[in-house]
Amino acid sequence: MSAAPSAPRTTDPYPAGFLQALTALLGSDRVRVVTDAGLDPGVHPLNLGAHCVALPANALEAAQVLQLCSQMQVGVVPQGGRTGLAGGAVTHAHELIVSLARMQQIEAVAADARTAIVGAGVTLEALDAALRPLSLSAGIDLGARGSATLGGMVATNAGGIDAFRFGTMRERVLGLEVALPTGEVINHLTRVRKNNAGLPLMQLFVGSEGTLGLITRVALQLVDAPRERHTALVLVADIAAGIAVLRAVEGVQSLRLAAAELMSGNHMQVTARALQIQGLEQTPLNGFGVLLAVEAAGAESAALVALQLAEALTVAAEAGVLRDALLPKNASEERDLWRIREDWSVDRLFPGGLWYDVSVPLDAIDGYLTALQARITRHDASLAVYVVGHLADGNLHVTVNAATPVTDRYEAIAPLVYDGLQALGGSFSAEHGIGLEKRAGLEHWAGDTSLRLMRSIKAVFDPQSVMNPGKVLR
Ligand code: LAC
Ligand code: ZN
Repeated sequence: MSAAPSAPRTTDPYPAGFLQALTALLGSDRVRVVTDAGLDPGVHPLNLGAHCVALPANALEAAQVLQLCSQMQVGVVPQGGRTGLAGGAVTHAHELIVSLARMQQIEAVAADARTAIVGAGVTLEALDAALRPLSLSAGIDLGARGSATLGGMVATNAGGIDAFRFGTMRERVLGLEVALPTGEVINHLTRVRKNNAGLPLMQLFVGSEGTLGLITRVALQLVDAPRERHTALVLVADIAAGIAVLRAVEGVQSLRLAAAELMSGNHMQVTARALQIQGLEQTPLNGFGVLLAVEAAGAESAALVALQLAEALTVAAEAGVLRDALLPKNASEERDLWRIREDWSVDRLFPGGLWYDVSVPLDAIDGYLTALQARITRHDASLAVYVVGHLADGNLHVTVNAATPVTDRYEAIAPLVYDGLQALGGSFSAEHGIGLEKRAGLEHWAGDTSLRLMRSIKAVFDPQSVMNPGKVLR
């Protein structure tokens, strides 16, 4: 995506008196007027199109800000770490950004209860750093961990690497505090798993992408932190073989599968070459790599975990399911494997590519990918398809690119990527959400009844329709 340079902002695009009323609520240091000169060049230019950022510090303040916006018809775009990949945080001059940056307190960690209550602006990395000394983890991990905020992760129902074990954000959340555009606050900061108290209102905010209210605090279910952890890369001819290898590893009693990350051969080749990591540039293009991370199920040593993983892979090799395996000799080689998975060299080398984020039941991935490749080639043989993803839950990130940018072909290529998914029981939108990008997809796949219900629910929570205007539902 590219943005035309915005015109210098000289006039205030808000209704008369809005900025004054906002400043009266928060004080001038927490109402920042964005000037072009002040734009952070590292930030996606489309996400800071709004003229003003408000920084409420708690739910009450946030509710007052949202109520003011409702009264004066100013659109509100909640922003956490701005790491979303579907355009959910994109803003325009006349909208107000409500930032989570002043809600960064890790308020309570109850180690024995395995729960935490955090401000919505806490980053995943900050929470993990606080939990590590207690041998606990949030049970969720993703590449954007350094910037992604817990509030944003709830709002987008983030998934990531651990989701196959611990669920997506929906399963990690025990309670929420939410500011509403009516000026009210709902406090559902429960810290229990079992909680049947009428309709699950709180769950409506998970994955709502800021269209219903602003999440201000989050109660989370924690898990035990991984113990000794070890990663290997296995090369397989197809997905069925990759799944057979991960089942073989899961079958070893003393090991626990911690991650099974998928990469297509061309992704590995291109990325290894770009990062100058030796040994993987020769990967067979027509195969896949599966990054298998395992941890000890008991109190084993790191060396023993590595040995048992190697044994499990030897058995899998003898059974003929893997082509090759790479067991890193040290921590730096292990990090290199993860860099190949998480680096975006493919996008840097072929800018203007298209990204799709789909879910496919595990037993249907091979068939889906073969048919996808055939559809794309038939459509335009100059297009390349790259795949990375979270194999154990069937979440595939499909990149379609070419030697020159194909940015304007998103809608034309989407049907080729989505074809057959519904019949297979998959989803056109897995973990990145709808935002702006997948609205046409939602309209196509949700069906009239579901769309009508979604619009009705939106109107109940946000009667003036100011929350993240135009996102998810047009
Ligand atoms: C990934 C993120 C971008 O899996 O979803 O790489
Ligand atoms: Zn992902």
